[in-house]
Amino acid sequence: MFGRSPLTAATGLLAVCSHASMALAQEDGSNAIVASGTSFSLNGDNLTYRFHANSTTGDLITDHFGPSISGKTPPPVDPPVNGWVGLPGRIRREFPDQGRGDFRVPAVRIRQSAGYTVSDFQYQSHDVIQGKNAASLPGLPATFGGEEDVSTLVVHLYDNYSSVAADLSYSVFPKYDAVVRSVNVTNRGEGNITVDGLASFSVDFEVEDLDLISLRGDWAREAERQRSRVQYGVQGFGSNTGYSSHLHNPFFALVDPSTTESQGEAWGFNLIYTGSFSAQIEKGSQGYTRALLGFNPDKLSWNLGPGETLTSPEAVSVYSNEGIGGMSRKFHRLYRNHLIKSKFATSDRPPLLNSWEGVYFDFNQSTMLTLAEQSADLGISLFVMDDGWFGNKYPRLSDNAGLGDWVPNPDKFPDGLDPLVEGATNLTINGTTDNEDKKLRFGIWVEPEMVNPNSSLYKEHPDWVLHAGSYPRTERRNQLVLNVALPEVQDFIIDFMTNLLNSSDISYIKWDNNRGQHETPSPANDHLYMLGLYRVFETLTTRFPDVLWEGCASGGGRFDPGILHYFPQIWTSDDTDGFERIAIQFGTSLAYPPSAMGAHISAVPNAQTGRTVPLEFRAHVAMMGGSFGLELDPAEITGEEVDHMHELIALSQRVNPLVLNGDLYRLRLPEETRWPAALFVSEDKSQAVLFYFQTSPYVNHAVPRVKLQGLEEGAEYKVDGDDSLVYSASALMGLGLQYQFETDYGSRVVFLEKV
Ligand code: DGJ
Repeated sequence: MFGRSPLTAATGLLAVCSHASMALAQEDGSNAIVASGTSFSLNGDNLTYRFHANSTTGDLITDHFGPSISGKTPPPVDPPVNGWVGLPGRIRREFPDQGRGDFRVPAVRIRQSAGYTVSDFQYQSHDVIQGKNAASLPGLPATFGGEEDVSTLVVHLYDNYSSVAADLSYSVFPKYDAVVRSVNVTNRGEGNITVDGLASFSVDFEVEDLDLISLRGDWAREAERQRSRVQYGVQGFGSNTGYSSHLHNPFFALVDPSTTESQGEAWGFNLIYTGSFSAQIEKGSQGYTRALLGFNPDKLSWNLGPGETLTSPEAVSVYSNEGIGGMSRKFHRLYRNHLIKSKFATSDRPPLLNSWEGVYFDFNQSTMLTLAEQSADLGISLFVMDDGWFGNKYPRLSDNAGLGDWVPNPDKFPDGLDPLVEGATNLTINGTTDNEDKKLRFGIWVEPEMVNPNSSLYKEHPDWVLHAGSYPRTERRNQLVLNVALPEVQDFIIDFMTNLLNSSDISYIKWDNNRGQHETPSPANDHLYMLGLYRVFETLTTRFPDVLWEGCASGGGRFDPGILHYFPQIWTSDDTDGFERIAIQFGTSLAYPPSAMGAHISAVPNAQTGRTVPLEFRAHVAMMGGSFGLELDPAEITGEEVDHMHELIALSQRVNPLVLNGDLYRLRLPEETRWPAALFVSEDKSQAVLFYFQTSPYVNHAVPRVKLQGLEEGAEYKVDGDDSLVYSASALMGLGLQYQFETDYGSRVVFLEKV
């Protein structure tokens, strides 16, 4: 039964097996998917996920989602059915439908043309595919991988009464203990149906206590970690802002109550989607915990005519028995290798200077060029002109005009962008030799999905913005949202971006988005907008693969895997305070790789918090993000700070490959200690870099040792320092290193090298 199927030897891209009793083997010989009759086992290196179809009801029953197990699955005991809850409400279900006695939240909600909302999805057949069928998620961002990386099980379900089909697609990435799921719902009947809810991932956990961890926040206060015991009843969160949002990230983890950063079981879930979403956790009357992640039912109401299909986004789940940190590292590795499609996913990023906090809207060609010169002098490699460069009839001199009119402001740039771009890209970066590679690069800011009413675009196309009949179009930051669901809006964005990128030597784009959606014409418009946006991203990133794209949404308002599929980095937060940033970056790293985080040194006192933090501390915090940069007026860096800045930029470049490619260990959490710490360890464990901070002194008290993690057992490491001593991995991990800090905001960056 666990033998290698003859079909697994097929050399085609997608070897499909569509009958009972088969296994698909990964290159390393493990059986990623074992299908035995109508029982399925999805296997990672340290994961087994099992479910089966009930032979009487055709319902899919969850058997196990956790550590690797082998052999037969001990069956659940048939529950006694007493009281109001029917049998479907007393068992673990893989794709819970509604209306037949399971009173918990359903994964799928369908309204038939007659108004019925009952469904009865029963197993029909399944296919097993070596690799992943990219075409199965049309227009959506998704994980990718070859036959050696991933195997896919597609289970076909059918509701005979409504003639609706549902295909559940499970892709297993064994190396990452990851199962990625999406769902297709197809109307095979003759009338219309409405899909009112569809979870990409749905699974029922055993009867056990679990804690729920999620990320909440707001503008400039993203990714605050919260943890609470799962209670009986429904608890959850989501976004109905039209975007993934600062308010709640489309990520959660369920963990054993005893799980810590470094120990215990953790199941992580993350939706590959940038739109409104819903995460619901319900502990039902029988004690099983249901976890759902997918479309927001308040923002769906999706009509399906005969023959039409709705495809859910993919949701990723990973399992770790090495704590919350182990879960994060699995997400990070999976995303670096199988989600972010940019060629820059893991390649060294140029240290950049962004003009925003340094000059805001107050610049012209000559002052921008001066900024570029000062940047090159500091050793910066990429100069980025942020907001304020565009608008002719309605110039963008503040945030109340110009969005939509993507032509250079003629007062600021009388001869267009060329003189600035040519001037900047001819500058030689200080400290480098004079050849092409060492020239300053130029990048620019755009906010393509938005329009100010004070713009020519809005005067010409008032019908292009989101609106609901005659309801007032409420403005936020003086702007309205273009309805990217409309093909003409998509084409407008594709065209102006193509012209902009073809017009000058622009090698970086910051794609901003600074408000949520109001007055949408229908709930379904949310998803139509996303499909339109993804078409725009796909077209532009395919057309301009050499451009380094950075996502932004008032900071981290769209820090999600959907954006990461197209853009390898995202501006993490508009809060650039070095102290606050540790928690924001640590929180974001629960699901997202540090390689994806934009992190900058800004001026003090900080624009958001008024706090003054030493330059070195600000720099060390920013270096923990994959895209390190400066966001200040370089003219204000004077005296000894100039040399110091040179050293810090050079240090950031030494650190950068480890941040981009290494494994992150959050050694001490900022919300739990005044001495937070993180360690990045290269995948081969030959190198590591420790970040150790003191956020405030504890007077007349020793600084605790920081115990390292993830080093190679039995190896020895040279630890950078005054005398660069060699210590065993066991001493570094079992006892740890101790440093002294004198003041508020002390910091250390320490390299380790295996000897
Ligand atoms: C919000 C972004 O998060 C900032 O970095 C900056 O680009 C401004 N928008 C510009 O308006």
